[in-house]
Amino acid sequence: MTDQDELDGILAAHAGREGALLPILHDVQAAFGHVSESAVRQIAQALNLTRAEVHGVVSFYHDFREEPESRPVLKLCRAESCQARGVEALAAALPENPRVKVETVYCLGLCSVGPAAMVGHEVHGRLDAARLGALVESLA
Ligand code: FES
Repeated sequence: MTDQDELDGILAAHAGREGALLPILHDVQAAFGHVSESAVRQIAQALNLTRAEVHGVVSFYHDFREEPESRPVLKLCRAESCQARGVEALAAALPENPRVKVETVYCLGLCSVGPAAMVGHEVHGRLDAARLGALVESLA
């Protein structure tokens, strides 16, 4: 299946649905790792929106990338519950690793077992410095 076939399939799967833009963008991001300018153009055409409207949504939400990220991404929750459980100290002590991109997110729905992080679709709770460091190293 080509990338175009895959994009066409995503657009077809959401055709005629109310509020399809965000689900389409999530599917495109999951399939390609980013939402390209070409995808923005085709999504806009499929939903009868302007490219600026689609681009505005892509650029507003952290989850969407306009360019592919070649490094593995670890999403570290820094919202209130994880802050209360010490994520700021973990983040400050986390050694820089240029081969892994650490992004901040705000709540992964794991508040009771924070500090929490996500890699791909896999979530990790009850992180301490050792577990977070090992997780980053496992991605490098
Ligand atoms: S506040 Fe971190 S998972 Fe909810």
